Amino acid sequence: MCGIVGYTGFQDAYTIVINGLRRLEYRGYDSAGIVLENKNANFSTAKTKGKVDDLVAISENLKGTASVGMGHTRWATHGVPSDRNSHPHISNNGKIALVHNGIIENYDTIKKMLTEKGYTFKSETDTEVLVNLIQYFMELDANLDFPEAVRFALNEVYGAYAITVMHEDFPGVLVVGRLGSPLAIGLGNKEYFIASDASPFVEFTKEAIYLEEGHMATISLENGVDIRSIVDNSKIIPAIQELKLSLEQIEKGGYEHFMLKEIFEQPKSIHDTMRGRLIVEEGIIKMAGIWDHLEKFTNANRIIIIACGTSWHAGLIGEYLIEEFARINVEVEYASEFRYRNPIIGNKDVVIAISQSGETADTMAALKLAKEKGAFIYGICNVVDSSIARITDAGSYTHAGPEIGVASTKAFTAQLTILSLIALKLGKHNGSLSNGEFMKLITELDHLPKKIEEVLKSTHDLVKNIAKDFVNAQNFLYLGRGYNYPAALEGALKLKEISYIHAEGYPAAEMKHGPIALIDENMPIVIIAPKKGHYDKIVSNVQEIKARKGKVLAVVNTGDTQVSEMADYVIEIPETSECFSPIVASVPLQLLAYYIAVYRGANVDQPRNLAKSVTVE
Ligand code: F6R
Repeated sequence: MCGIVGYTGFQDAYTIVINGLRRLEYRGYDSAGIVLENKNANFSTAKTKGKVDDLVAISENLKGTASVGMGHTRWATHGVPSDRNSHPHISNNGKIALVHNGIIENYDTIKKMLTEKGYTFKSETDTEVLVNLIQYFMELDANLDFPEAVRFALNEVYGAYAITVMHEDFPGVLVVGRLGSPLAIGLGNKEYFIASDASPFVEFTKEAIYLEEGHMATISLENGVDIRSIVDNSKIIPAIQELKLSLEQIEKGGYEHFMLKEIFEQPKSIHDTMRGRLIVEEGIIKMAGIWDHLEKFTNANRIIIIACGTSWHAGLIGEYLIEEFARINVEVEYASEFRYRNPIIGNKDVVIAISQSGETADTMAALKLAKEKGAFIYGICNVVDSSIARITDAGSYTHAGPEIGVASTKAFTAQLTILSLIALKLGKHNGSLSNGEFMKLITELDHLPKKIEEVLKSTHDLVKNIAKDFVNAQNFLYLGRGYNYPAALEGALKLKEISYIHAEGYPAAEMKHGPIALIDENMPIVIIAPKKGHYDKIVSNVQEIKARKGKVLAVVNTGDTQVSEMADYVIEIPETSECFSPIVASVPLQLLAYYIAVYRGANVDQPRNLAKSVTVE
């Protein structure tokens, strides 16, 4: 979703901002803009619908003209993607510039009030309303300081925002604020950076402040970083974090796309997820977050998993894992539904939120609701220090490393790894899982990175070839049973989000209750059919499909004969316990989606209309 970059220091602000916006491209956007404060303290602005390259094409003359500035990539909410709606937005008097990530929900009321007072608006955005509200407060009281006017304005709006504001009469000053959308301040040597995450400034500094909810900061070379509460202006002493992120982690490392790099990183990312947690020789799983709260989990009325998208699919597999091994009642909910349906929840419930970004607005809101109702809140996030990670009572990071491709791959398998660890740990602790079974499963889990490495080696070229035959497909069905039903949902989601081919996932047995009507010789059906996990039933499903001339692409275990003989395409993966098979089976399905999308010429890392962290409802 929208990305913000700001800079004040001694380097060329244009270069820093443009390079920073490129780093944030992965978040998803449809237009981009920049404003610089030139040597005479006047603004130079450029903005356009399209990509950062389009912005560069119209703004290169600004290079080398300023050492203070800010930029923005916009993901349209209020108003279509257009030059006019792009940020920065400038106040009516031309003196204040503002970039914004989020949604001002009461913008309409404020717009009416400002319109009555003579303000005019060039765009359809909520952001232009906010920048004029700041002007309005400064005009109401000529003595009002610029940061104070920003604070007044922020107290009038509700919704979600991360903003950065500049004022021509306050040269060298950047004012930032946050509620609901993330913002980091990089602390350099005689320079400061602002960004939606730390990736734009990782090569310049390893020290950052992550602005907390409801806080704002005034940043200048003269006075440093002054953090205040938006509500009452009280001074806040910030925590300075040491960044663990490296430049290498956020570059493509020779791969054509981040998505492919991230698919290939999975042996390492799964290993990193388990590192220090799974100690097979000692027969233990050590997870601080769970360890300290074991009784909360094992005595829970029920565990509710809340998430969105791919993380929700991981949650479904988590339900199977925890119910099977720990025998604790689990429910999985879409965060967006949970929060609005007045759920019954209390202090005997444990809520697990799963989120790669840790910033998803729906998941965050659902968590806050569960917290208010007294539930114990556990987070499974990939991004360290993200908003969700910070409001949970406890949690486990997935440690998959930065995921830049919009389509989630390595974060998904890392989430499944964490959920496996949690389920096995709880099962061992409450006695639902025998020691023998526990040892067998953790040994297998420990071997998964090696297995994934084998799968990548043995299936990559094959899948790349198979994908060519499906470039013109219009629809796909993905089927699986048991643990592989959510894996089918995830396979279908991957395909539709990056190739724009319509795809649906179903439990294989549900096929006969409707989707079977779709099957003909033009309908490709991906079927996940490992040996362990209702294999005989899957065989019958494949027969039903073949009887209707459907084209079957089967993911089977090495050496499989029965399904393989009937299938049109076969991808072999090594055998695992059923509970881990989604981790292994997902890898060729990610490759399949990736290559189909590449052959169709789609923008794999930044699919249309999608955002990496969805910070609006
Ligand atoms: C799919 C995808 C999305 C996210 C969803 C939740 O590839 O990336 O469906 O899974 O937006 O995001 P997080 O996990 O960041 O909460």
